[in-house]
Formats: sequence, C-alpha cells, structure tokens
Amino acid sequence: MEEPIVIKRLVDKYKDDDKRKELDLSKYKEIDIVGCGSAKYAGMVGASLLEEFAEIKTTVYSASEYRYKKKIYNIDKTLVILISQSGETADTIAALREAKELKLDTLGIVNNPDSTIARESDKTILIEAGVEVAVATTKAYLAQVCILSLMAYETGISKHIIDLSYREFINLPTKIKEVIEKKDIFRKIAKVIYQNDKCFFIGRGIDYAICMEGSLKLKEVSYIHCEAYEAGELKHGTISLIEENIPVFAIITDNRLKDKTISNLKETLARGAKGFIVTSKGIDIDIELDTITVPKSSLLTSAMLITPALQLMAYYTAKSKKCDIDKPRNLAKSVTVE
Ligand code: G6P
Repeated sequence: MEEPIVIKRLVDKYKDDDKRKELDLSKYKEIDIVGCGSAKYAGMVGASLLEEFAEIKTTVYSASEYRYKKKIYNIDKTLVILISQSGETADTIAALREAKELKLDTLGIVNNPDSTIARESDKTILIEAGVEVAVATTKAYLAQVCILSLMAYETGISKHIIDLSYREFINLPTKIKEVIEKKDIFRKIAKVIYQNDKCFFIGRGIDYAICMEGSLKLKEVSYIHCEAYEAGELKHGTISLIEENIPVFAIITDNRLKDKTISNLKETLARGAKGFIVTSKGIDIDIELDTITVPKSSLLTSAMLITPALQLMAYYTAKSKKCDIDKPRNLAKSVTVE
C-alpha cells in the first residue's frame, strides 16, 4: 500500500535535470547486473529497459553464479550494478568484492544506507523505500525497478536516443494507486486459483521479466508451484505440463509482442488451461478472458503498474489458503550465508 509514496519520493527526488544527471550511465558500453531473488528480477526488468531505451548491452546474473563465472569485460567501459534491498546478502557482497578486485566500476542500488554494499560500492544509489517488514519484498522491488527505469530514461536522453517527457514518471504514483485500489478483481482471481497446485506466467521481452517476479511472489507466499516461461518457449517441452484448469497468466504490455503472446496463450487454452490476461490500457486484446487492466503507460514504466497487481493477487491467494503471508515457511528476509 505504500508503493505510491515510495515511488513519488524517488520521482520527486530526480525531477530536476541536474540531479538526474547522477543517473546517466552513457559512458558505459556494457552493464552487468547482479542480485539475488527479487533483486535479480528487478535487474531483469532494468536490463530490458537499459537495452531498449539507452542502448547499453546489459546482462543479468544471480550473485551466487556471478562470483564463480569467468568474467569477460571491457575495463573502463563496463559497469557492475549490485542490487540488494538489505545490502547484506552474502553472495551479492562477494560479487561486489570480486568486481572491485577486477577494478570494474561498481554501483550499489540498496535500501539500507548503513549496509556493507552501500559502504563498499564505488557509488551507491538509495531506493529510500523505508523499512520493509514482510519477508517477500514488494515496495523495495518496485523502487529498484524505478531507479533502473530512471537510469534508462536519463541515459537515453543524454545519448539522444529518446525524447520523452518526465511526466511519465510524475504520473506514476497516481496510476499505482489506481491499480492497488482494484482489490475486488484480485480477490476474485485469487478465489479461482487458490486450490490449484500449479500455475504458469508467460510473456515475451520485458513481460517475461515481469513474469519472473509475479511467479516468484505467488509461489513464495502461497506455496503454489509457479513457473514463469518465455511465451515462445512453452511449446519446446513445458506445454506437456498443461492440464485441465491450470491457471496461465499472460502478461502483455508490449504492443509489438501482443499477438505472439496471445497465440501462445491460445495453445494452452486448447489444452484446457484457464487463461488470464494482465495488460495495460490501450492494448487491444481480442480474446474474452478474465483480464486485469492497469492504466496506460509507456514500456518505461509499465512494469511498475503490472507488478503491484501481481503482488496483490499473490497476497489474496495466500490469504485464501490461510498462509502466513509476512513470514512464508523456510524463507529469510536477508540471506547472509552462501
Ligand atoms: C531473500 C528475500 C528476497 C530477496 C532476496 C535478496 O531471499 O526473501 O525477498 O529478494 O533475499 O535480498 P536483498 O536484500 O539482497 O535484496
């Protein structure tokens, strides 16, 4: 519920052109984004935006993998971004130290200003999301995406690739508020899916990155086994798991990919799946299914409108199952061991 306030704080902080220059990454040719769990998935959305709007080749890694992989980089032209709400995740700290040893520029995107990652990164950007109580992150994830989106915007402007108004960001908090007020539809869908033991999220491009977080959120709090799948990859194996009444959520915010994703969704419907669509206003969907529609926006900000809907759907599904939503079993808020 605090998401509109958190995003407003960030959008206001960077509304002056001079202040926003701090987010300009145009001197880099390549970016590696490193994080764990939802922080990594925020990085996936960010990577999509940095490639699309700032034309910087961006690769995302799990911190636990980045530590041990052979690094191929272009010194002085590569930036390593470490994303961590707590700033204390062991694998992300180790990845930061590795990158520093290689003399790569490092940038921490963190919530806790007194954390190890905040202290040790060459540069730190605070998401200023406030204390997050529930184990499964919500507002901090959104704030991480917001910072990455602002970076893509500022870099795209500085490189003269895009010419978009900052208004897109200014309008965002009100639109997020509109999404989180649609409680009835989230409750309704939760009632339909909570008794299933499997569920799929499909999408292409940035929508696939959004699926990763939507799927994680639902599985971690409701214990329903969820998979996020690139829509076009379904038929290469996973479609064999589709059975009568399995929920399949298609995320569609990129108009260029709409027809392809719908055609993949139809393949699952033909096998008995129960389809749902989560989309942005203005995208013309020509199929009659239960649909969540968030306010119209550009791809720069649509992830920040779709995700609160997916978070609330996860919340109400877990609630219907009487799960402990704030403290799901076996999970910790901050993972300080390898
Ligand atoms: C744990 C939490 C996740 C979080 C991840 C990374 O697994 O349960 O919600 O995304 O750690 O945490 P960090 O503090 O580095 O963002």
